[in-house]
Amino acid sequence: ANKLGSKKERTLALIKPDVVTKIGDVLELIYSSNLIVTKAKMTKLTWSQATDFYLEHQSKPFFNNLVQFVSSGPVVAMELMGDEAMSIWRRLLGPTDSAVARREAPQSVRAQFGTDGVKNVGHGSDSFAAAARELEFFFPSTIGHGPSNTALYTDC
Ligand code: PPS
Repeated sequence: ANKLGSKKERTLALIKPDVVTKIGDVLELIYSSNLIVTKAKMTKLTWSQATDFYLEHQSKPFFNNLVQFVSSGPVVAMELMGDEAMSIWRRLLGPTDSAVARREAPQSVRAQFGTDGVKNVGHGSDSFAAAARELEFFFPSTIGHGPSNTALYTDC
């Protein structure tokens, strides 16, 4: 807890290839929700890396499609920090399918910038365990290799 007594959470936000060029619009919504970006990285995932990242979905019929899409162009991975960062980012994203998002959550990121259930702007960790794993995936622990920039923000 910081000096105001609030508990900050950290979560992984992944901006998918469909909206990487509109990242500013997504960031504005992130900032309006009182979340801050504590780490960021633009990268292009290989097929193998995308498979690792989405391993929990490997038995799903859409798995290959998902891996193909997320490795088709650059993505931006961010560590977001703030009160209830995990649920706030997922609420900001809206329903998985962008068409559903337009009906049910018109202010959401997917409603505004998504196309369908595949080109759906972003991903957010859905549990604390997932957040820890996914943050480590994109931002491997720097212990012993220099300072972690998150440390700069722990008292925000
Ligand atoms: S499930 O079965 O409820 O766990 O799946 P769901 O949460 O709806 O979706 C998990 C992720 O898979 C993506 N998805 C797809 N990708 C490609 N093609 C199809 N048909 C498809 N259906 C779902 C969906 O966007 C989710 O991605 P993330 O990045 O986890 O939000």
